[in-house]
Amino acid sequence: MAKMWAGRTDALTSKIADDFNSSISVDKRMYKEDITGSMAHAAMLGAKGIITETEAGCLIDGLQSVLDDLESGVLAVDENCEDIHMFVEQVLTERLGDVGRKLHTARSRNDQVALDFRMYLRGETDEICARIKALGQAVIELAEAHKETIMPGYTHLQRAQPVTFGHHMMAYVMMLIRDLDRLSDCRKRINISPIGCCALAGTTYDTDRRMVAEELSFEGIAMNSMDGVSDRDFALEMLSCLSILMMHLSRFAEEIILWSSWEFKFVELSDAFTTGSSIMPQKKNPDMAELVRGKTGRVYGDLMALLTTMKGLPLAYNKDMQEDKEGVFDACDTVKMCLDVFKGMIETMTPLPENMLNAARGGFINATDAADYLVGKGLPFRSAYKISGQIVAKCIREGKVLETLSLDEYKGFSDLFEEDIYDAVNIKNCTFRRTSEGGAGPESFNAQIEFAKERLT
Ligand code: ARG
Repeated sequence: MAKMWAGRTDALTSKIADDFNSSISVDKRMYKEDITGSMAHAAMLGAKGIITETEAGCLIDGLQSVLDDLESGVLAVDENCEDIHMFVEQVLTERLGDVGRKLHTARSRNDQVALDFRMYLRGETDEICARIKALGQAVIELAEAHKETIMPGYTHLQRAQPVTFGHHMMAYVMMLIRDLDRLSDCRKRINISPIGCCALAGTTYDTDRRMVAEELSFEGIAMNSMDGVSDRDFALEMLSCLSILMMHLSRFAEEIILWSSWEFKFVELSDAFTTGSSIMPQKKNPDMAELVRGKTGRVYGDLMALLTTMKGLPLAYNKDMQEDKEGVFDACDTVKMCLDVFKGMIETMTPLPENMLNAARGGFINATDAADYLVGKGLPFRSAYKISGQIVAKCIREGKVLETLSLDEYKGFSDLFEEDIYDAVNIKNCTFRRTSEGGAGPESFNAQIEFAKERLT
C-alpha cells in the first residue's frame, strides 16, 4: 500500500508488514484529542504567519467537519490507515486538497502522539477520580449506618480486638482518598504539553508552543524537546497509581469474599451482584468481588509491560513506544469497570451485625482490655499481660469467656480484680472506650467521617 511518507522510498510495504506496523485499532479512540490538538496547532500556524490565517481557518473548519462526521457516524475510521493521526490527515487532505497538506508543518507524529496520549489520559484521570469519589461516598454511607456495629478486628486473620464495622469501612475510605490524591498529583505531570517538540529537536519555524498549550488547557510545556517526545513516565505513573488503587480494591474484595462465606457470614451480597453455580443449587458466589481481585493482576501486568518496553530505549522516539497505549487503555477500562461494579456491590450488600457480634464475643478479643484494667490498678503492663494470658488459658480449658468468669476466679489470679472488671471486659465498652485519635471509638469515627466527606465531595 502506498504511504503518506512515500519519498525516500516508494513506500510500498507488504500487507503483513502493514498489519504489524498498524496501531489504529488501539489509537482510534484518541480521535477527538487528535483533532482538537490539530485545530490548536493550525490556529498557531496561522497566528504566527507560518501559514495564512485563511488557510488556518480552512484547516480548522475541515477538522471540525471530520470530528462532526466521526461523531455522527457519517464517517467511519478506516482501519487500513497506519494510525489515527494518518487517518485524520488523510481525510482532511481528501476534503481540502493542498491546504490539508499544510497541517503537518512544524510538528511530527512523535510530538503529536505524545500530545494526544496526554490529553486522553488527562480525561481518563478525571473520570476515574469521579468514580473513586462515588465509591468512597457509598462506603461512607455504609460506615455511618454501622458506626455501632461491633465486629472482631483481625491480625494474622486471628481475632484480635473489637472494632466497629463502620471503623473497618472507613479504613478503605482513607485508602481511596490517598488514591485520589495520587491520581490528582499524577495529573499535574500528565498535563504538560509536548507539542512543538516536533520529531526530536524542535523546529526552525517561528512557532509558539505556549499558545498551543494554553489553548489546550495544559499547565506548561515540555522544556526539552527530546524528553518531550520520548518520555512515557506520565503513563507509567498513572499505571502505578491504578495498580495501587486495584491493590486496595482487591484487599477489600478479598474481605467481602471471606465475609460472605458460611464460615463468617458477616455480610450477605445481593442477588444482583452474585452468581449461582451450574451444578450446586445452594451456591451464591461472590463473582464480582473475585473478578475485581482477579483483574488486579491484569492492571499490574499492564504496568510491568510498559516498564519493560521502556527500559532499554535510547532517546528519542522508537517504534517500541507504539506499544505504550494498549495496556494503559486496558488498565483505565478495567479500573473504571471495577469501581462501578464495586459501588453497586457495596450499596446492595447487607451486613449481619448479629453474626459479627457473636464472633466478637468468641475470641477473647477483650484480653488486652483485661490487662489494661490491671494496669489501671497499678500493675506494669508486662505483668498484667501475663496474668491476662493465664486467665485466657484457664477460660479455654474450661470453656468459659472473660465475661462469665466469677470474681473469685479472677481474684485467684490477682487481688486487684474488683466488680468493675466486668465493665472493663464488656465488648461494647472495649470498643467505644478506644478514644485515642484514629482509634475505634466514636469520637475518632466522627472525625474520620467529617474529614472524608470534605475530601470526597
Ligand atoms: N502510531 C505511532 C505511535 O503510536 C505514532 C508515532 C509514529 N512516529 C514514528 N516516528 N513512526 O507511536
